[in-house]
Amino acid sequence: MAEARDDREAKEDAMRLSEAEIAVHWKEESYFYPNARFIGQANLTDPSVTERFAEKNFPECFREYADLLTWDKYWTTTLDTSKAPFWKWFVGGRLNVAYNCVDRHLGKYGNKAAIVYVPEPEDEAGQTITYNELYHRVNEVAAVLRDFAGLRTGDRVTIHMPMVPELPITMLACARLGVIHSVVFGGFSGEACGARIVDSGSRVLISMDGYYRSGKVIDHKANADIAVAKAESEGQKVEKVLVWRRFPDRSASPTPMVEGRDFVVNDLLKPHRGAIVPPVSMPAEAPLFLMYTSGSTGKPKGCQHSTGGYLSYVAGTSRFIQDIHPTDVYWCMADIGWITGHSYIVYGPLALAATTVMYEGVPTYPDAGRPWRIAVRLGVNIFHTSPTAIRMLRKVGPDEPKKYPLNFKCMTTVGEPIEPEAWRWYYENVGKGQAAVTDTWWQTETGGFVCSTKPALDPMKPGSAGPPMPGIYPIIYDEEGKEIPAGSGKAGNICIRNPWPGIMQTIWGDPDRFVKNYYGKYNRNPTSQDWRDWPYFAGDGATWAPDGYIRILGRVDDVINVAGHRLGTKELESACLTVPEIAEAAVVPIVDAERGRVPEVYVSLKPGMSADGVPEKVSKAIETTIGKIARPRVVRIVPDMPKTRSGKIMRRVLASISNQMDYGDITTLSNPEVVEQIRVSVQGKEKVATKAGPDDIKRFGETT
Ligand code: PRX
Repeated sequence: MAEARDDREAKEDAMRLSEAEIAVHWKEESYFYPNARFIGQANLTDPSVTERFAEKNFPECFREYADLLTWDKYWTTTLDTSKAPFWKWFVGGRLNVAYNCVDRHLGKYGNKAAIVYVPEPEDEAGQTITYNELYHRVNEVAAVLRDFAGLRTGDRVTIHMPMVPELPITMLACARLGVIHSVVFGGFSGEACGARIVDSGSRVLISMDGYYRSGKVIDHKANADIAVAKAESEGQKVEKVLVWRRFPDRSASPTPMVEGRDFVVNDLLKPHRGAIVPPVSMPAEAPLFLMYTSGSTGKPKGCQHSTGGYLSYVAGTSRFIQDIHPTDVYWCMADIGWITGHSYIVYGPLALAATTVMYEGVPTYPDAGRPWRIAVRLGVNIFHTSPTAIRMLRKVGPDEPKKYPLNFKCMTTVGEPIEPEAWRWYYENVGKGQAAVTDTWWQTETGGFVCSTKPALDPMKPGSAGPPMPGIYPIIYDEEGKEIPAGSGKAGNICIRNPWPGIMQTIWGDPDRFVKNYYGKYNRNPTSQDWRDWPYFAGDGATWAPDGYIRILGRVDDVINVAGHRLGTKELESACLTVPEIAEAAVVPIVDAERGRVPEVYVSLKPGMSADGVPEKVSKAIETTIGKIARPRVVRIVPDMPKTRSGKIMRRVLASISNQMDYGDITTLSNPEVVEQIRVSVQGKEKVATKAGPDDIKRFGETT
């Protein structure tokens, strides 16, 4: 029975046109080289790193990362594979993450800025939080969490907050106590937050009354009420909601506090002023946090990250790739509610005693010069952002960076493939042709970078993420598990052959799904304790050039990467089905010049239902269940879905139509006539000339 279902699912998957298949290909570009000034000061200039992290030195090579941390007790086993693929790193070791990110820096850097916070309104004063100040604020919040909220080591707590310094302070307070935090991106809806509260079993929600977005104060407290109601409707009682205040003297939200359940954190802190909470010494393999991400089934999965392995990996990669020194002012423009923010705004930079910058608002508010003014004013010398932000800033203010004396020594791009043209604008205008650019490929699951150039050692190649990171041994397989050799120009499924310290430990509450999802496809022996039998399936299509540079094409599963954020098509489809008029829904990815990919929605109506207002209702339903980021570009009402004879919706056909491609052979469908009807309504009467449509779009598996 289970097998029949798997088979069906596999067939159904094969009917989807994945992101990787509609990837926009570009030719191999020529190299750019880092300049001497950058190399002269870089952390990683010794080419022997490749040898040190070669397979013959695995797993001990990762001691180099773990040795960046301060351990309460040194570990005895570097990698334990006895419960493969549930890898355990640095077994026997103990440490505390907050101690490593704050306390241990006090002696040397106590009076140095740890976090510099920039509010969105340009005339509002920012905050510079020194390591001393951070230490006290983290301790006081830890005292509230322990003594008022009753949180203990191993408890989970959901944090739904915007980009304010209270967010990393709360995360570090959890880490100090060994409480597992689950931060939900502030832009997600109350319902999405509620679903994550249920899955993680949190009895405390930490939220904020409001925050600025594009000049307006958003009522965020309202989301907390929705989240608690959603969680309670699914059997998870939230006992306490702790609400931070955006303004010290007043509430930023008109939504009332619920007596006995909701508490203002700023008030709770008063009796704890000056409190010191000893850091709890945690086993290296204890979970540090959960980060929910979208997968190929409807329910988001809680990626569980470890204490010792994760922190070692983000510290090591921040040092090697971000080139962070304690004297640097580093700004990653991501949101802490995503993995990038966890690893490369909070944990990596703070573990290395850097100054990390946080910005509350929209990069283009009030104009496209805002990021550059912030960077100049704060003396930012390391900058980190996404291709979507680069494309957007280039579109609205192509000449803006030229007006400012930007002085970045290195810059990063992350989250999506970057077009060589956007890369060059970034390099030439933002980096002034001086900054070393790293295009880092990784995922929520990987904890930290897994592919990137080493900025002082490897030349940059626009459009390619670069070689694997030290200690990461990838392989590209075809669907049958045959290796696609580097240099073949053929695309396949990228996997990583070995475990590394930043890899997620499991899916919270669902170890079977973890094994099936990431290892099921290419595992050679389910009882093996040898890591070589367990290639990690990343879910991305990729090509590997003869020079060893990897190019990521996009997802091969039912995930759409919208503006660098992952959305599950099935999550979107089930949101559509909450609209009473809808009989069936299909969501497909389409190429978008700014946001990379955006979802387009096809719906068919139940008999006798009116189409009036349906597109708006569908958009609203998606916004309520997931959040504004998931809003579809278009909702198309179709008379019927293209279907196989067994009744499966052919999403591949719809995706081809939406992407202005030829839909190929449809003779085996039960209703081929409907396809042409849909095509004409989307593409117009004229047929697209070739199956590839625009010149630069090729199908997965073809040579580039
Ligand atoms: O498809 C890949 C894409 O983003 C996915 C991971 O998304 P998420 O878990 O939300 O993490 C985003 C930040 C790490 C990947 O499966 N992706 C990430 N980085 C790149 C990328 N695609 C191309 N180039 C990259 N540098």
